[in-house]
Amino acid sequence: MNQPIPYLDLAAQLRPLRKEIDAVIAKTLDNCSFCLGPDVIQFENDFARHCGAQYAVGFNSGTSALHVAMLLLNIGPGDEVITTPHTFVATSWAISYVGARPVYVDIDDQTFTLDPKLVERAITPRTKAIMPVHLYGHPVDLEPLMEICRKHKPPLVEDAAQAHGAKYRGKIVGTFGAMSGFSFYPGKNLGACGEGGALVTNNEAYAARARSLREHGSTQRYFHDEVGFNYRMEGIQGAVLGVKLRHLDKWTQGRRRVAQRYHELLAGTPLQLPREADYAESVYHLYVVRHPRRDDLKKHLESHKVGCALHYPLPLHLQKCYASLGYHAGDFPVAEKAARECLSLPIYPELTDEQIQRVAEVIKDFFKA
Ligand SMILES: Cc1ncc(COP(=O)(O)O)c(C=O)c1O
Repeated sequence: MNQPIPYLDLAAQLRPLRKEIDAVIAKTLDNCSFCLGPDVIQFENDFARHCGAQYAVGFNSGTSALHVAMLLLNIGPGDEVITTPHTFVATSWAISYVGARPVYVDIDDQTFTLDPKLVERAITPRTKAIMPVHLYGHPVDLEPLMEICRKHKPPLVEDAAQAHGAKYRGKIVGTFGAMSGFSFYPGKNLGACGEGGALVTNNEAYAARARSLREHGSTQRYFHDEVGFNYRMEGIQGAVLGVKLRHLDKWTQGRRRVAQRYHELLAGTPLQLPREADYAESVYHLYVVRHPRRDDLKKHLESHKVGCALHYPLPLHLQKCYASLGYHAGDFPVAEKAARECLSLPIYPELTDEQIQRVAEVIKDFFKA
Protein backbone atom coordinates (compact mmCIF):
# COMPACT_ATOMS: atom_id res chain seq x y z
CA MET A 1 0.00 0.00 0.00
CA ASN A 2 1.48 3.34 -1.06
CA GLN A 3 1.90 5.98 1.63
CA PRO A 4 0.17 9.31 0.88
CA ILE A 5 2.50 11.99 -0.49
CA PRO A 6 1.56 15.25 1.19
CA TYR A 7 1.56 18.44 -0.86
CA LEU A 8 3.61 20.09 1.88
CA ASP A 9 5.42 18.42 4.78
CA LEU A 10 6.50 21.00 7.35
CA ALA A 11 6.93 18.29 10.00
CA ALA A 12 9.68 16.70 7.88
CA GLN A 13 11.52 20.02 7.80
CA LEU A 14 11.17 20.63 11.53
CA ARG A 15 12.14 17.15 12.73
CA PRO A 16 15.93 17.41 12.29
CA LEU A 17 15.94 21.04 13.55
CA ARG A 18 13.75 20.45 16.53
CA LYS A 19 16.45 20.48 19.25
CA GLU A 20 18.04 23.63 17.87
CA ILE A 21 14.69 25.38 17.56
CA ASP A 22 13.53 24.31 21.02
CA ALA A 23 16.78 25.74 22.45
CA VAL A 24 16.45 29.17 20.80
CA ILE A 25 12.78 29.44 21.74
CA ALA A 26 13.68 28.54 25.35
CA LYS A 27 16.30 31.29 25.32
CA THR A 28 13.77 33.82 24.03
CA LEU A 29 11.35 32.78 26.77
CA ASP A 30 14.10 33.19 29.36
CA ASN A 31 14.92 36.68 28.02
CA CYS A 32 11.25 37.63 27.64
CA SER A 33 12.18 39.36 24.37
CA PHE A 34 8.84 38.71 22.72
CA CYS A 35 8.38 41.73 20.42
CA LEU A 36 11.41 42.59 18.27
CA GLY A 37 14.47 42.27 20.53
CA PRO A 38 17.96 40.80 20.00
CA ASP A 39 16.93 37.72 18.01
CA VAL A 40 15.03 39.85 15.51
CA ILE A 41 17.96 42.27 15.18
CA GLN A 42 20.36 39.37 14.62
CA PHE A 43 18.04 37.82 12.03
CA GLU A 44 17.59 41.16 10.24
CA ASN A 45 21.37 41.49 9.93
CA ASP A 46 21.78 37.90 8.74
CA PHE A 47 18.92 38.11 6.25
CA ALA A 48 20.17 41.43 4.83
CA ARG A 49 23.59 39.82 4.32
CA HIS A 50 21.98 36.81 2.65
CA CYS A 51 20.16 39.12 0.21
CA GLY A 52 23.29 41.21 -0.40
CA ALA A 53 21.36 44.20 0.99
CA GLN A 54 22.20 46.93 3.48
CA TYR A 55 18.99 46.67 5.49
CA ALA A 56 16.30 44.14 6.31
CA VAL A 57 13.46 45.29 8.56
CA GLY A 58 11.50 42.50 10.26
CA PHE A 59 7.70 42.57 10.08
CA ASN A 60 4.81 40.51 11.40
CA SER A 61 3.98 39.43 7.82
CA GLY A 62 4.92 39.91 4.20
CA THR A 63 1.63 41.72 3.67
CA SER A 64 2.61 44.33 6.28
CA ALA A 65 6.05 44.77 4.70
CA LEU A 66 4.48 45.42 1.28
CA HIS A 67 1.93 47.79 2.80
CA VAL A 68 4.73 49.80 4.40
CA ALA A 69 6.62 49.76 1.08
CA MET A 70 3.69 51.65 -0.47
CA LEU A 71 3.71 54.13 2.45
CA LEU A 72 7.47 54.73 2.11
CA LEU A 73 6.87 55.79 -1.49
CA ASN A 74 4.07 58.14 -0.31
CA ILE A 75 1.57 56.36 -2.54
CA GLY A 76 -2.05 57.20 -1.78
CA PRO A 77 -5.54 57.85 -3.15
CA GLY A 78 -5.58 58.73 -6.87
CA ASP A 79 -2.30 56.92 -7.50
CA GLU A 80 -1.78 53.80 -9.59
CA VAL A 81 0.59 50.89 -9.15
CA ILE A 82 1.25 48.52 -12.05
CA THR A 83 1.24 44.89 -10.98
CA THR A 84 0.31 41.34 -11.94
CA PRO A 85 -3.15 39.74 -11.76
CA HIS A 86 -1.61 36.26 -11.30
CA THR A 87 -0.33 36.23 -7.72
CA PHE A 88 -1.47 35.80 -4.15
CA VAL A 89 -3.91 38.60 -3.34
CA ALA A 90 -1.62 40.24 -0.77
CA THR A 91 0.42 41.88 -3.55
CA SER A 92 -2.64 43.92 -4.43
CA TRP A 93 -3.71 44.43 -0.81
CA ALA A 94 -0.64 46.60 -0.27
CA ILE A 95 -1.83 48.92 -3.04
CA SER A 96 -5.44 48.94 -1.86
CA TYR A 97 -4.51 49.57 1.80
CA VAL A 98 -3.07 52.98 0.87
CA GLY A 99 -6.11 53.85 -1.25
CA ALA A 100 -4.30 53.51 -4.59
CA ARG A 101 -5.45 51.53 -7.62
CA PRO A 102 -3.87 48.27 -8.79
CA VAL A 103 -3.37 48.49 -12.56
CA TYR A 104 -2.97 44.98 -13.91
CA VAL A 105 -0.77 43.97 -16.82
CA ASP A 106 -0.79 40.47 -18.29
CA ILE A 107 1.90 37.90 -17.58
CA ASP A 108 4.49 36.07 -19.62
CA ASP A 109 3.23 32.62 -20.60
CA GLN A 110 6.47 30.80 -19.78
CA THR A 111 7.40 32.32 -16.41
CA PHE A 112 3.95 33.33 -15.06
CA THR A 113 5.50 36.72 -14.15
CA LEU A 114 4.64 40.27 -15.26
CA ASP A 115 5.33 40.68 -19.00
CA PRO A 116 7.71 43.66 -19.35
CA LYS A 117 6.69 44.12 -23.01
CA LEU A 118 3.20 45.14 -21.87
CA VAL A 119 4.16 47.39 -18.97
CA GLU A 120 5.12 50.61 -20.72
CA ARG A 121 1.72 51.17 -22.33
CA ALA A 122 0.04 50.90 -18.90
CA ILE A 123 2.02 53.85 -17.52
CA THR A 124 0.08 57.07 -16.89
CA PRO A 125 0.94 60.30 -15.03
CA ARG A 126 -0.64 58.65 -11.96
CA THR A 127 1.71 55.62 -11.98
CA LYS A 128 3.63 55.75 -8.71
CA ALA A 129 5.30 52.33 -8.69
CA ILE A 130 5.70 49.07 -10.57
CA MET A 131 5.35 45.99 -8.38
CA PRO A 132 6.18 42.68 -10.08
CA VAL A 133 6.21 39.35 -8.24
CA HIS A 134 8.98 36.75 -8.42
CA LEU A 135 6.26 34.15 -8.59
CA TYR A 136 6.79 30.51 -7.57
CA GLY A 137 10.43 31.43 -6.82
CA HIS A 138 11.19 32.42 -10.43
CA PRO A 139 12.46 35.98 -10.94
CA VAL A 140 10.60 38.37 -13.19
CA ASP A 141 12.65 39.72 -16.12
CA LEU A 142 14.07 42.67 -14.17
CA GLU A 143 16.30 44.47 -16.67
CA PRO A 144 13.55 45.66 -19.05
CA LEU A 145 11.42 46.64 -16.05
CA MET A 146 14.27 48.64 -14.53
CA GLU A 147 14.79 50.34 -17.88
CA ILE A 148 11.10 51.38 -17.93
CA CYS A 149 11.42 52.64 -14.34
CA ARG A 150 14.51 54.69 -15.26
CA LYS A 151 12.72 56.19 -18.25
CA HIS A 152 9.37 56.96 -16.61
CA LYS A 153 10.56 57.42 -13.00
CA PRO A 154 8.18 55.20 -10.99
CA PRO A 155 10.18 53.14 -8.51
CA LEU A 156 10.30 49.36 -8.67
CA VAL A 157 9.08 47.37 -5.67
CA GLU A 158 9.81 43.64 -5.80
CA ASP A 159 7.33 41.26 -4.23
CA ALA A 160 9.88 38.61 -3.30
CA ALA A 161 7.55 36.78 -0.88
CA GLN A 162 8.13 33.48 -2.70
CA ALA A 163 11.70 33.99 -3.85
CA HIS A 164 14.24 33.89 -1.00
CA GLY A 165 17.63 33.50 -2.67
CA ALA A 166 16.37 33.40 -6.29
CA LYS A 167 18.89 34.88 -8.72
CA TYR A 168 18.52 37.22 -11.66
CA ARG A 169 21.61 37.12 -13.88
CA GLY A 170 23.56 35.70 -10.94
CA LYS A 171 22.46 38.25 -8.33
CA ILE A 172 19.98 37.52 -5.55
CA VAL A 173 16.62 39.26 -5.99
CA GLY A 174 15.37 41.84 -3.51
CA THR A 175 17.69 44.80 -4.16
CA PHE A 176 17.03 45.48 -7.85
CA GLY A 177 14.31 47.99 -7.00
CA ALA A 178 13.86 50.66 -4.34
CA MET A 179 12.82 47.97 -1.89
CA SER A 180 11.32 44.51 -1.70
CA GLY A 181 8.96 42.53 0.51
CA PHE A 182 9.57 38.97 1.73
CA SER A 183 7.19 36.61 3.52
CA PHE A 184 8.15 34.06 6.14
CA TYR A 185 4.73 32.40 6.26
CA PRO A 186 5.38 28.79 7.42
CA GLY A 187 5.10 27.20 3.96
CA LYS A 188 7.53 29.62 2.33
CA ASN A 189 11.08 28.53 1.40
CA LEU A 190 12.18 30.31 4.58
CA GLY A 191 9.25 29.99 6.95
CA ALA A 192 8.70 31.02 10.56
CA CYS A 193 6.79 29.02 13.17
CA GLY A 194 3.99 31.53 12.70
CA GLU A 195 3.75 34.73 10.68
CA GLY A 196 6.64 36.92 9.56
CA GLY A 197 7.94 39.18 6.83
CA ALA A 198 10.72 41.61 5.94
CA LEU A 199 11.25 44.76 3.97
CA VAL A 200 14.66 44.78 2.29
CA THR A 201 16.34 47.90 0.94
CA ASN A 202 19.67 49.65 0.42
CA ASN A 203 18.14 53.01 1.32
CA GLU A 204 18.87 54.11 4.89
CA ALA A 205 15.97 56.58 5.06
CA TYR A 206 13.48 53.95 3.88
CA ALA A 207 14.79 51.46 6.45
CA ALA A 208 14.55 54.01 9.28
CA ARG A 209 10.99 55.04 8.39
CA ALA A 210 9.98 51.37 7.97
CA ARG A 211 11.24 50.67 11.51
CA SER A 212 9.20 53.59 12.79
CA LEU A 213 6.02 52.70 10.85
CA ARG A 214 6.07 49.10 12.08
CA GLU A 215 6.18 50.38 15.66
CA HIS A 216 3.31 52.86 15.92
CA GLY A 217 5.10 55.57 13.95
CA SER A 218 7.57 56.04 16.75
CA THR A 219 11.33 55.99 17.29
CA GLN A 220 11.06 57.06 20.91
CA ARG A 221 8.50 55.32 23.09
CA TYR A 222 5.20 57.22 23.43
CA PHE A 223 6.27 59.90 20.93
CA HIS A 224 4.60 59.38 17.54
CA ASP A 225 5.88 61.14 14.43
CA GLU A 226 3.14 59.82 12.13
CA VAL A 227 0.22 57.42 12.23
CA GLY A 228 1.84 54.00 12.42
CA PHE A 229 1.05 50.34 12.87
CA ASN A 230 1.76 47.43 15.16
CA TYR A 231 3.64 45.41 12.53
CA ARG A 232 6.50 44.19 14.74
CA MET A 233 8.13 40.81 14.21
CA GLU A 234 7.86 38.55 17.25
CA GLY A 235 11.09 37.66 19.08
CA ILE A 236 10.37 33.93 18.81
CA GLN A 237 9.97 34.19 15.03
CA GLY A 238 13.28 36.06 14.75
CA ALA A 239 14.98 33.29 16.74
CA VAL A 240 13.43 30.48 14.64
CA LEU A 241 14.20 32.25 11.36
CA GLY A 242 17.82 32.74 12.46
CA VAL A 243 18.18 28.96 12.81
CA LYS A 244 16.39 28.19 9.55
CA LEU A 245 18.29 30.78 7.50
CA ARG A 246 21.46 28.72 8.03
CA HIS A 247 19.79 25.87 6.11
CA LEU A 248 18.21 27.92 3.33
CA ASP A 249 20.91 27.46 0.66
CA LYS A 250 20.97 23.70 1.22
CA TRP A 251 17.15 23.61 1.04
CA THR A 252 17.21 25.60 -2.20
CA GLN A 253 19.58 23.03 -3.70
CA GLY A 254 17.16 20.33 -2.52
CA ARG A 255 14.23 22.05 -4.23
CA ARG A 256 16.25 22.42 -7.42
CA ARG A 257 17.08 18.69 -7.28
CA VAL A 258 13.37 17.83 -7.01
CA ALA A 259 12.56 20.17 -9.92
CA GLN A 260 15.28 18.60 -12.04
CA ARG A 261 13.90 15.10 -11.36
CA TYR A 262 10.37 16.23 -12.29
CA HIS A 263 11.77 17.75 -15.52
CA GLU A 264 13.42 14.43 -16.38
CA LEU A 265 10.54 12.18 -15.42
CA LEU A 266 7.71 14.28 -16.89
CA ALA A 267 9.49 15.32 -20.09
CA GLY A 268 7.54 13.00 -22.38
CA THR A 269 4.08 13.79 -20.94
CA PRO A 270 1.55 16.27 -22.43
CA LEU A 271 2.12 18.59 -19.44
CA GLN A 272 3.61 22.03 -19.96
CA LEU A 273 6.49 22.05 -17.47
CA PRO A 274 8.00 25.09 -15.76
CA ARG A 275 11.20 26.24 -17.46
CA GLU A 276 13.79 28.64 -16.12
CA ALA A 277 14.33 31.67 -18.32
CA ASP A 278 17.95 32.06 -19.44
CA TYR A 279 18.42 34.94 -16.96
CA ALA A 280 17.01 33.06 -13.98
CA GLU A 281 17.95 30.74 -11.18
CA SER A 282 14.63 29.76 -9.61
CA VAL A 283 14.31 28.63 -6.00
CA TYR A 284 11.24 26.57 -6.94
CA HIS A 285 8.95 27.69 -4.16
CA LEU A 286 6.36 25.88 -6.26
CA TYR A 287 6.57 23.45 -9.17
CA VAL A 288 3.63 24.41 -11.35
CA VAL A 289 2.68 22.33 -14.37
CA ARG A 290 -0.05 23.17 -16.86
CA HIS A 291 -2.70 21.23 -18.73
CA PRO A 292 -6.20 22.00 -20.06
CA ARG A 293 -7.56 18.98 -18.13
CA ARG A 294 -6.06 20.26 -14.91
CA ASP A 295 -9.18 19.62 -12.79
CA ASP A 296 -9.35 15.94 -13.85
CA LEU A 297 -5.63 15.50 -13.24
CA LYS A 298 -6.00 17.05 -9.77
CA LYS A 299 -8.78 14.58 -8.92
CA HIS A 300 -6.68 11.71 -10.26
CA LEU A 301 -3.67 12.69 -8.13
CA GLU A 302 -5.82 13.11 -5.04
CA SER A 303 -7.51 9.75 -5.58
CA HIS A 304 -4.02 8.23 -5.58
CA LYS A 305 -3.15 10.11 -2.38
CA VAL A 306 -0.77 12.55 -4.03
CA GLY A 307 -1.26 16.07 -2.68
CA CYS A 308 -1.48 18.97 -5.11
CA ALA A 309 -2.80 22.54 -5.08
CA LEU A 310 -3.92 25.48 -7.25
CA HIS A 311 -1.87 28.67 -7.34
CA TYR A 312 -4.01 30.52 -8.22
CA PRO A 313 -7.44 29.49 -9.51
CA LEU A 314 -8.89 32.99 -10.12
CA PRO A 315 -6.86 36.00 -11.29
CA LEU A 316 -7.14 39.12 -9.17
CA HIS A 317 -8.95 41.25 -11.78
CA LEU A 318 -11.85 38.76 -11.63
CA GLN A 319 -12.04 38.53 -7.83
CA LYS A 320 -15.24 39.82 -6.21
CA CYS A 321 -13.27 42.18 -3.96
CA TYR A 322 -11.92 43.97 -7.04
CA ALA A 323 -15.16 44.16 -9.07
CA SER A 324 -15.15 47.94 -8.57
CA LEU A 325 -11.92 48.21 -10.60
CA GLY A 326 -14.05 47.48 -13.69
CA TYR A 327 -12.02 44.70 -15.29
CA HIS A 328 -13.68 41.89 -17.26
CA ALA A 329 -13.02 38.30 -18.28
CA GLY A 330 -10.80 38.40 -21.36
CA ASP A 331 -8.80 41.45 -20.25
CA PHE A 332 -5.70 39.36 -19.40
CA PRO A 333 -5.92 36.20 -21.50
CA VAL A 334 -2.51 34.77 -20.53
CA ALA A 335 -3.20 35.08 -16.80
CA GLU A 336 -6.72 33.70 -17.23
CA LYS A 337 -5.44 30.66 -19.13
CA ALA A 338 -2.72 30.10 -16.51
CA ALA A 339 -5.36 30.17 -13.77
CA ARG A 340 -7.40 27.52 -15.62
CA GLU A 341 -4.45 25.24 -16.33
CA CYS A 342 -2.02 25.51 -13.41
CA LEU A 343 -1.43 22.69 -10.96
CA SER A 344 1.21 22.72 -8.21
CA LEU A 345 2.93 19.41 -7.49
CA PRO A 346 4.58 18.57 -4.15
CA ILE A 347 8.03 20.17 -3.90
CA TYR A 348 10.17 20.39 -0.77
CA PRO A 349 13.77 19.47 -0.04
CA GLU A 350 12.79 16.40 1.98
CA LEU A 351 10.88 14.78 -0.91
CA THR A 352 12.60 11.46 -1.67
CA ASP A 353 13.43 10.18 -5.12
CA GLU A 354 10.95 7.37 -4.55
CA GLN A 355 8.18 9.87 -3.83
CA ILE A 356 9.07 11.97 -6.89
CA GLN A 357 8.98 8.86 -9.06
CA ARG A 358 5.59 7.92 -7.70
CA VAL A 359 4.16 11.38 -8.42
CA ALA A 360 5.45 11.03 -12.00
CA GLU A 361 4.02 7.52 -12.35
CA VAL A 362 0.57 8.61 -11.17
CA ILE A 363 0.66 11.48 -13.70
CA LYS A 364 1.73 9.16 -16.53
CA ASP A 365 -1.01 6.76 -15.55
CA PHE A 366 -3.54 9.63 -15.95
CA PHE A 367 -2.46 10.26 -19.52
CA LYS A 368 -2.48 6.52 -20.38
CA ALA A 369 -6.12 6.11 -19.35
C1 LIG B 1 3.36 36.68 -3.73
C2 LIG B 1 3.01 36.95 -2.30
N1 LIG B 1 2.93 38.23 -1.88
C3 LIG B 1 2.66 38.53 -0.60
C4 LIG B 1 2.43 37.53 0.33
C5 LIG B 1 2.05 37.93 1.72
O1 LIG B 1 2.87 37.39 2.69
P1 LIG B 1 2.26 37.02 4.14
O2 LIG B 1 1.42 35.81 4.00
O3 LIG B 1 3.50 36.78 4.96
O4 LIG B 1 1.50 38.19 4.62
C6 LIG B 1 2.53 36.19 -0.06
C7 LIG B 1 2.39 35.06 0.88
O5 LIG B 1 1.48 34.64 1.42
C8 LIG B 1 2.80 35.89 -1.41
O6 LIG B 1 2.87 34.63 -1.82
